[in-house]
Amino acid sequence: MKILLTGGAGFIGSHTIIELLYAGHSVCVVDNFVNSSAEAMRRVEKITGVSIPFYQVDIRDHDALSAVLDQHPVDCCIHFAGLKAVGESVSLPLEYYENNISGTLVLVDVLRKHGCRNIIFSSSATVYGDPAVIPITEDVSKGKCTNPYGWTKWMIEQILTDLHTADPSWNVVLLRYFNPIGAHPSGLIGENPNGVPNNLMPYITQVAAGKLECLHVFGNDYDTPDGTGVRDYIHVVDLARGHVAALQAVEKNVGVEIYNIGTGKGYSVLEIVKAFENATGIEIPYVIDPRRPGDIGTCYSAPGKALAELGWKAEFDIEDMCRDSWNWQKRNPNGYVSD
Ligand code: NAD
Ligand code: UD1
Repeated sequence: MKILLTGGAGFIGSHTIIELLYAGHSVCVVDNFVNSSAEAMRRVEKITGVSIPFYQVDIRDHDALSAVLDQHPVDCCIHFAGLKAVGESVSLPLEYYENNISGTLVLVDVLRKHGCRNIIFSSSATVYGDPAVIPITEDVSKGKCTNPYGWTKWMIEQILTDLHTADPSWNVVLLRYFNPIGAHPSGLIGENPNGVPNNLMPYITQVAAGKLECLHVFGNDYDTPDGTGVRDYIHVVDLARGHVAALQAVEKNVGVEIYNIGTGKGYSVLEIVKAFENATGIEIPYVIDPRRPGDIGTCYSAPGKALAELGWKAEFDIEDMCRDSWNWQKRNPNGYVSD
Protein backbone atom coordinates (compact mmCIF):
# COMPACT_ATOMS: atom_id res chain seq x y z
CA MET A 1 0.00 0.00 0.00
CA LYS A 2 0.98 3.65 -0.35
CA ILE A 3 1.02 5.18 3.12
CA LEU A 4 1.10 8.80 4.28
CA LEU A 5 2.76 9.20 7.68
CA THR A 6 2.00 12.45 9.47
CA GLY A 7 4.62 13.15 12.14
CA GLY A 8 6.75 10.48 10.47
CA ALA A 9 10.05 12.04 11.56
CA GLY A 10 9.20 11.56 15.24
CA PHE A 11 10.15 8.76 17.61
CA ILE A 12 7.46 6.23 16.68
CA GLY A 13 6.95 7.40 13.09
CA SER A 14 10.63 7.03 12.16
CA HIS A 15 10.67 3.42 13.40
CA THR A 16 7.38 2.71 11.62
CA ILE A 17 8.72 3.91 8.24
CA ILE A 18 11.40 1.22 8.44
CA GLU A 19 8.96 -1.60 9.21
CA LEU A 20 6.56 -0.45 6.48
CA LEU A 21 9.36 -0.42 3.90
CA TYR A 22 10.55 -3.88 5.02
CA ALA A 23 6.99 -5.15 4.58
CA GLY A 24 6.93 -3.88 0.99
CA HIS A 25 4.81 -0.74 1.39
CA SER A 26 5.77 2.68 0.05
CA VAL A 27 5.70 5.81 2.20
CA CYS A 28 5.40 9.55 2.06
CA VAL A 29 6.11 11.66 5.16
CA VAL A 30 4.90 15.05 6.34
CA ASP A 31 6.21 16.64 9.52
CA ASN A 32 6.64 20.25 10.61
CA PHE A 33 9.70 19.22 12.69
CA VAL A 34 8.32 20.96 15.80
CA ASN A 35 9.60 17.99 17.82
CA SER A 36 11.96 16.27 15.37
CA SER A 37 14.40 17.03 12.61
CA ALA A 38 15.29 16.21 9.03
CA GLU A 39 18.30 14.39 10.47
CA ALA A 40 15.98 11.61 11.68
CA MET A 41 14.79 11.15 8.09
CA ARG A 42 18.37 11.00 6.80
CA ARG A 43 19.13 8.29 9.35
CA VAL A 44 16.07 6.27 8.33
CA GLU A 45 17.33 6.52 4.74
CA LYS A 46 20.74 5.30 5.92
CA ILE A 47 19.20 2.29 7.70
CA THR A 48 16.90 1.29 4.83
CA GLY A 49 18.89 2.44 1.80
CA VAL A 50 15.66 3.93 0.45
CA SER A 51 15.15 7.54 -0.54
CA ILE A 52 12.02 8.72 1.26
CA PRO A 53 9.78 11.54 0.02
CA PHE A 54 9.37 13.85 3.00
CA TYR A 55 7.89 17.33 3.27
CA GLN A 56 8.19 19.96 5.95
CA VAL A 57 4.47 20.62 6.19
CA ASP A 58 2.19 21.49 9.08
CA ILE A 59 -0.92 19.32 8.93
CA ARG A 60 -3.01 22.39 9.77
CA ASP A 61 -1.95 23.90 6.44
CA HIS A 62 -4.73 22.69 4.13
CA ASP A 63 -3.13 23.89 0.89
CA ALA A 64 0.32 22.54 1.61
CA LEU A 65 -1.05 19.16 2.66
CA SER A 66 -3.26 19.04 -0.44
CA ALA A 67 -0.27 19.76 -2.64
CA VAL A 68 1.58 16.78 -1.13
CA LEU A 69 -1.38 14.47 -1.74
CA ASP A 70 -1.84 15.79 -5.30
CA GLN A 71 1.68 14.56 -5.95
CA HIS A 72 1.48 11.39 -3.83
CA PRO A 73 -1.92 9.67 -3.88
CA VAL A 74 -2.14 7.34 -0.86
CA ASP A 75 -4.25 4.34 0.21
CA CYS A 76 -3.99 4.95 3.95
CA CYS A 77 -2.75 7.51 6.45
CA ILE A 78 -0.99 6.69 9.70
CA HIS A 79 -1.52 9.75 11.83
CA PHE A 80 1.25 10.34 14.38
CA ALA A 81 1.50 14.13 14.20
CA GLY A 82 0.69 15.81 17.47
CA LEU A 83 2.12 17.48 20.53
CA LYS A 84 2.67 14.97 23.32
CA ALA A 85 4.21 16.50 26.44
CA VAL A 86 1.73 15.89 29.23
CA GLY A 87 2.99 18.61 31.62
CA GLU A 88 3.24 21.20 28.82
CA SER A 89 -0.35 20.42 27.78
CA VAL A 90 -1.53 21.49 31.26
CA SER A 91 0.07 24.93 30.84
CA LEU A 92 -0.73 25.29 27.11
CA PRO A 93 -4.17 23.67 26.68
CA LEU A 94 -5.27 25.86 23.75
CA GLU A 95 -2.09 25.13 21.82
CA TYR A 96 -2.57 21.39 22.39
CA TYR A 97 -6.24 21.34 21.42
CA GLU A 98 -5.48 23.53 18.41
CA ASN A 99 -2.55 21.55 17.11
CA ASN A 100 -3.85 18.05 17.77
CA ILE A 101 -7.56 18.48 17.09
CA SER A 102 -7.56 21.17 14.37
CA GLY A 103 -4.67 19.33 12.74
CA THR A 104 -6.69 16.12 12.62
CA LEU A 105 -9.76 17.93 11.23
CA VAL A 106 -7.75 19.45 8.39
CA LEU A 107 -6.02 16.14 7.73
CA VAL A 108 -9.18 14.05 7.35
CA ASP A 109 -10.77 16.72 5.15
CA VAL A 110 -7.76 16.71 2.83
CA LEU A 111 -7.68 12.91 2.83
CA ARG A 112 -11.32 12.55 1.84
CA LYS A 113 -10.94 15.18 -0.88
CA HIS A 114 -8.16 12.99 -2.25
CA GLY A 115 -10.25 9.82 -2.08
CA CYS A 116 -8.44 8.30 0.92
CA ARG A 117 -10.78 7.10 3.68
CA ASN A 118 -8.42 4.90 5.67
CA ILE A 119 -6.72 6.15 8.82
CA ILE A 120 -4.73 4.56 11.61
CA PHE A 121 -4.54 6.86 14.62
CA SER A 122 -1.91 7.00 17.40
CA SER A 123 -4.01 6.89 20.52
CA SER A 124 -2.90 6.10 24.03
CA ALA A 125 -3.75 3.99 27.06
CA THR A 126 -4.29 7.35 28.73
CA VAL A 127 -7.90 7.29 27.35
CA TYR A 128 -8.72 4.54 29.88
CA GLY A 129 -8.07 7.00 32.74
CA ASP A 130 -7.66 5.06 35.99
CA PRO A 131 -8.83 1.74 34.56
CA ALA A 132 -11.56 -0.21 36.32
CA VAL A 133 -10.14 -3.55 35.12
CA ILE A 134 -6.53 -4.82 34.88
CA PRO A 135 -5.31 -6.11 32.46
CA ILE A 136 -7.15 -3.62 30.28
CA THR A 137 -9.15 -4.99 27.36
CA GLU A 138 -10.38 -2.78 24.53
CA ASP A 139 -13.98 -3.02 25.70
CA VAL A 140 -13.19 -1.38 29.06
CA SER A 141 -14.94 2.02 28.99
CA LYS A 142 -12.89 5.09 28.36
CA GLY A 143 -12.24 7.02 31.55
CA LYS A 144 -11.37 10.55 32.64
CA CYS A 145 -8.06 11.88 31.42
CA THR A 146 -5.91 13.88 33.79
CA ASN A 147 -4.55 16.40 31.28
CA PRO A 148 -5.37 18.18 27.98
CA TYR A 149 -2.97 15.94 26.02
CA GLY A 150 -4.96 12.88 27.09
CA TRP A 151 -8.24 14.61 26.26
CA THR A 152 -7.03 15.34 22.71
CA LYS A 153 -6.58 11.57 22.22
CA TRP A 154 -9.96 10.89 23.79
CA MET A 155 -11.69 13.47 21.57
CA ILE A 156 -9.91 12.56 18.33
CA GLU A 157 -10.99 8.93 18.85
CA GLN A 158 -14.58 10.21 19.11
CA ILE A 159 -14.24 12.51 16.07
CA LEU A 160 -12.92 9.69 13.88
CA THR A 161 -15.65 7.35 15.13
CA ASP A 162 -18.31 9.95 14.29
CA LEU A 163 -16.76 10.37 10.86
CA HIS A 164 -17.24 6.67 10.20
CA THR A 165 -20.84 6.82 11.45
CA ALA A 166 -21.58 9.58 8.95
CA ASP A 167 -19.70 7.92 6.10
CA PRO A 168 -19.21 4.16 6.59
CA SER A 169 -16.74 4.01 3.71
CA TRP A 170 -14.14 5.27 6.23
CA ASN A 171 -11.95 2.71 8.00
CA VAL A 172 -10.65 3.95 11.32
CA VAL A 173 -8.14 1.95 13.37
CA LEU A 174 -7.45 3.34 16.83
CA LEU A 175 -4.20 2.01 18.25
CA ARG A 176 -3.92 2.55 21.98
CA TYR A 177 -0.22 2.48 22.76
CA PHE A 178 1.01 1.59 26.21
CA ASN A 179 4.53 2.81 27.15
CA PRO A 180 6.89 2.81 24.15
CA ILE A 181 10.61 2.72 24.98
CA GLY A 182 13.73 1.25 23.33
CA ALA A 183 15.17 2.31 20.00
CA HIS A 184 16.20 0.83 16.68
CA PRO A 185 18.97 -1.74 17.35
CA SER A 186 21.28 0.18 14.96
CA GLY A 187 21.42 3.00 17.53
CA LEU A 188 20.84 5.51 14.70
CA ILE A 189 17.30 6.58 15.64
CA GLY A 190 15.54 6.88 18.97
CA GLU A 191 13.63 9.17 21.29
CA ASN A 192 14.92 12.72 21.43
CA PRO A 193 13.28 14.55 24.34
CA ASN A 194 13.70 18.30 24.76
CA GLY A 195 15.12 19.39 28.11
CA VAL A 196 14.76 17.24 31.21
CA PRO A 197 12.80 14.10 30.26
CA ASN A 198 9.38 13.54 31.83
CA ASN A 199 9.20 9.86 30.98
CA LEU A 200 10.94 7.15 32.94
CA MET A 201 13.26 5.50 30.41
CA PRO A 202 14.82 8.64 28.91
CA TYR A 203 15.36 9.89 32.46
CA ILE A 204 17.14 6.64 33.39
CA THR A 205 19.38 6.72 30.30
CA GLN A 206 20.38 10.31 31.09
CA VAL A 207 21.27 9.27 34.65
CA ALA A 208 23.33 6.42 33.18
CA ALA A 209 25.08 8.91 30.89
CA GLY A 210 25.91 11.16 33.86
CA LYS A 211 23.74 14.01 32.54
CA LEU A 212 21.36 13.74 35.51
CA GLU A 213 22.36 12.89 39.05
CA CYS A 214 19.79 10.34 40.15
CA LEU A 215 16.35 9.02 39.33
CA HIS A 216 13.41 10.40 41.30
CA VAL A 217 10.94 7.58 41.84
CA PHE A 218 7.47 9.12 42.02
CA GLY A 219 5.85 7.35 44.96
CA ASN A 220 6.38 3.98 46.64
CA ASP A 221 2.98 3.76 48.30
CA TYR A 222 0.85 2.51 45.40
CA ASP A 223 -1.08 -0.72 45.73
CA THR A 224 1.56 -2.65 43.74
CA PRO A 225 4.02 -5.38 44.83
CA ASP A 226 6.86 -2.93 45.65
CA GLY A 227 4.71 0.21 45.96
CA THR A 228 6.04 1.88 42.76
CA GLY A 229 3.98 2.46 39.61
CA VAL A 230 3.47 -0.47 37.24
CA ARG A 231 3.37 0.06 33.45
CA ASP A 232 3.32 -1.96 30.23
CA TYR A 233 6.57 -1.01 28.47
CA ILE A 234 6.80 -1.94 24.79
CA HIS A 235 9.78 -1.86 22.44
CA VAL A 236 9.27 0.82 19.79
CA VAL A 237 10.16 -1.67 17.02
CA ASP A 238 7.36 -3.98 18.19
CA LEU A 239 5.05 -0.97 18.28
CA ALA A 240 6.12 -0.02 14.75
CA ARG A 241 5.31 -3.55 13.55
CA GLY A 242 1.89 -3.20 15.17
CA HIS A 243 1.14 -0.50 12.56
CA VAL A 244 2.10 -2.83 9.72
CA ALA A 245 -0.24 -5.45 11.21
CA ALA A 246 -3.02 -2.86 11.58
CA LEU A 247 -3.03 -2.36 7.81
CA GLN A 248 -4.72 -5.76 7.61
CA ALA A 249 -7.71 -4.31 9.46
CA VAL A 250 -7.86 -1.53 6.89
CA GLU A 251 -7.72 -4.05 4.04
CA LYS A 252 -10.59 -6.02 5.62
CA ASN A 253 -12.79 -2.90 5.76
CA VAL A 254 -13.35 -3.11 9.48
CA GLY A 255 -15.16 0.19 9.91
CA VAL A 256 -13.93 1.27 13.34
CA GLU A 257 -11.64 -1.01 15.32
CA ILE A 258 -9.61 -0.46 18.49
CA TYR A 259 -6.45 -2.35 19.42
CA ASN A 260 -4.28 -2.20 22.50
CA ILE A 261 -0.62 -2.22 21.55
CA GLY A 262 1.23 -3.48 24.59
CA THR A 263 3.01 -6.58 25.84
CA GLY A 264 0.50 -7.57 28.53
CA LYS A 265 3.25 -7.49 31.19
CA GLY A 266 3.54 -4.88 33.90
CA TYR A 267 6.86 -3.75 35.39
CA SER A 268 7.30 -1.46 38.38
CA VAL A 269 9.68 1.49 38.38
CA LEU A 270 12.12 -0.42 40.58
CA GLU A 271 11.92 -3.49 38.31
CA ILE A 272 12.81 -1.25 35.37
CA VAL A 273 15.80 0.10 37.29
CA LYS A 274 16.94 -3.50 37.96
CA ALA A 275 16.36 -4.58 34.35
CA PHE A 276 18.36 -1.58 33.11
CA GLU A 277 21.22 -2.39 35.48
CA ASN A 278 21.21 -6.04 34.34
CA ALA A 279 21.13 -5.15 30.66
CA THR A 280 23.85 -2.49 30.80
CA GLY A 281 25.93 -3.13 33.92
CA ILE A 282 25.40 0.52 34.95
CA GLU A 283 24.09 1.32 38.40
CA ILE A 284 21.19 3.78 38.60
CA PRO A 285 21.07 5.71 41.87
CA TYR A 286 17.57 6.71 42.91
CA VAL A 287 15.60 8.50 45.61
CA ILE A 288 11.95 8.09 46.50
CA ASP A 289 9.85 11.24 45.97
CA PRO A 290 6.12 11.85 46.51
CA ARG A 291 3.63 10.67 43.89
CA ARG A 292 3.45 12.72 40.68
CA PRO A 293 0.05 14.44 40.32
CA GLY A 294 -2.16 12.71 37.74
CA ASP A 295 -0.30 9.38 37.93
CA ILE A 296 -2.07 6.07 38.47
CA GLY A 297 -0.76 2.95 40.22
CA THR A 298 -1.12 0.20 37.65
CA CYS A 299 -1.69 0.17 33.90
CA TYR A 300 -1.08 -2.78 31.60
CA SER A 301 -2.82 -4.23 28.61
CA ALA A 302 -4.57 -7.39 27.61
CA PRO A 303 -3.00 -7.56 24.13
CA GLY A 304 -4.91 -10.65 22.93
CA LYS A 305 -7.20 -8.90 20.45
CA ALA A 306 -4.30 -7.76 18.25
CA LEU A 307 -2.91 -11.30 18.30
CA ALA A 308 -6.23 -12.95 17.48
CA GLU A 309 -7.24 -10.54 14.72
CA LEU A 310 -3.97 -9.20 13.33
CA GLY A 311 -1.51 -11.95 14.26
CA TRP A 312 0.62 -9.34 16.05
CA LYS A 313 2.36 -9.68 19.39
CA ALA A 314 5.35 -8.04 21.01
CA GLU A 315 8.60 -9.99 20.64
CA PHE A 316 11.23 -7.96 22.52
CA ASP A 317 11.68 -8.36 26.26
CA ILE A 318 12.41 -5.77 28.91
CA GLU A 319 16.19 -6.24 28.78
CA ASP A 320 16.14 -5.73 24.98
CA MET A 321 14.24 -2.50 25.57
CA CYS A 322 16.75 -1.28 28.16
CA ARG A 323 19.76 -2.30 26.06
CA ASP A 324 18.46 -0.53 22.94
CA SER A 325 17.45 2.61 24.86
CA TRP A 326 20.96 2.80 26.27
CA ASN A 327 22.62 2.04 22.93
CA TRP A 328 20.80 5.02 21.38
CA GLN A 329 21.60 7.36 24.29
CA LYS A 330 25.26 6.32 24.41
CA ARG A 331 25.80 6.83 20.69
CA ASN A 332 23.81 10.06 20.53
CA PRO A 333 24.42 11.94 23.78
CA ASN A 334 22.86 15.08 22.28
CA GLY A 335 20.19 13.44 20.14
CA TYR A 336 20.08 14.36 16.47
CA VAL A 337 23.02 16.68 16.06
CA SER A 338 23.96 16.71 12.37
CA ASP A 339 26.98 14.58 11.46
P1 NAD B 1 7.11 12.70 18.54
O1 NAD B 1 6.93 14.04 19.12
O2 NAD B 1 8.48 12.15 18.47
O3 NAD B 1 6.44 12.64 17.08
C1 NAD B 1 5.35 13.44 16.71
C2 NAD B 1 5.75 14.17 15.42
O4 NAD B 1 4.67 15.00 15.00
C3 NAD B 1 6.97 15.07 15.61
O5 NAD B 1 7.94 14.72 14.64
C4 NAD B 1 6.43 16.48 15.39
O6 NAD B 1 7.39 17.30 14.81
C5 NAD B 1 5.22 16.21 14.51
N1 NAD B 1 4.15 17.22 14.59
C6 NAD B 1 3.53 17.73 15.69
N2 NAD B 1 2.60 18.61 15.32
C7 NAD B 1 2.59 18.65 13.96
C8 NAD B 1 1.83 19.36 13.00
N3 NAD B 1 0.88 20.26 13.35
N4 NAD B 1 2.09 19.15 11.69
C9 NAD B 1 3.04 18.27 11.31
N5 NAD B 1 3.79 17.58 12.17
C10 NAD B 1 3.56 17.76 13.49
O7 NAD B 1 6.14 11.71 19.34
P2 NAD B 1 6.04 10.12 19.29
O8 NAD B 1 6.47 9.61 20.60
O9 NAD B 1 6.68 9.62 18.05
O10 NAD B 1 4.47 9.97 19.21
C11 NAD B 1 3.78 9.79 17.98
C12 NAD B 1 2.29 9.80 18.25
O11 NAD B 1 1.99 8.75 19.18
C13 NAD B 1 1.78 11.08 18.90
O12 NAD B 1 0.49 11.36 18.39
C14 NAD B 1 1.72 10.73 20.37
O13 NAD B 1 0.78 11.51 21.05
C15 NAD B 1 1.29 9.27 20.29
N6 NAD B 1 1.64 8.51 21.50
C16 NAD B 1 2.93 8.52 21.95
C17 NAD B 1 3.26 7.83 23.10
C18 NAD B 1 4.68 7.85 23.62
O14 NAD B 1 4.90 7.48 24.77
N7 NAD B 1 5.68 8.24 22.85
C19 NAD B 1 2.28 7.12 23.80
C20 NAD B 1 0.97 7.12 23.31
C21 NAD B 1 0.67 7.82 22.14
C1 UD1 C 1 2.89 9.23 30.62
C2 UD1 C 1 1.63 10.03 30.38
C3 UD1 C 1 0.80 9.40 29.28
C4 UD1 C 1 1.65 9.21 28.04
C5 UD1 C 1 2.88 8.39 28.41
C6 UD1 C 1 3.80 8.14 27.26
C7 UD1 C 1 1.09 11.06 32.56
C8 UD1 C 1 0.11 11.11 33.67
N1 UD1 C 1 0.86 10.14 31.61
O1 UD1 C 1 2.52 7.95 31.04
O2 UD1 C 1 -0.30 10.22 28.98
O3 UD1 C 1 0.89 8.55 27.02
O4 UD1 C 1 3.61 9.08 29.43
O5 UD1 C 1 4.46 9.30 26.88
O6 UD1 C 1 2.03 11.80 32.50
N2 UD1 C 1 8.36 7.76 36.87
C9 UD1 C 1 9.26 7.99 37.92
N3 UD1 C 1 10.24 8.92 37.74
C10 UD1 C 1 10.39 9.64 36.58
C11 UD1 C 1 9.47 9.41 35.52
C12 UD1 C 1 8.47 8.47 35.71
O7 UD1 C 1 9.16 7.36 38.96
O8 UD1 C 1 11.28 10.49 36.49
C13 UD1 C 1 7.34 6.72 37.03
C14 UD1 C 1 5.91 7.22 36.90
O9 UD1 C 1 5.41 7.62 38.14
C15 UD1 C 1 5.21 5.98 36.32
C16 UD1 C 1 6.29 5.30 35.48
O10 UD1 C 1 7.53 5.79 35.97
O11 UD1 C 1 4.86 5.09 37.38
C17 UD1 C 1 6.18 5.61 33.99
O12 UD1 C 1 6.11 7.03 33.82
P1 UD1 C 1 6.14 7.70 32.36
O13 UD1 C 1 7.27 7.16 31.57
O14 UD1 C 1 6.09 9.18 32.56
O15 UD1 C 1 4.80 7.17 31.67
P2 UD1 C 1 3.28 7.24 32.20
O16 UD1 C 1 3.14 8.06 33.40
O17 UD1 C 1 2.76 5.86 32.24
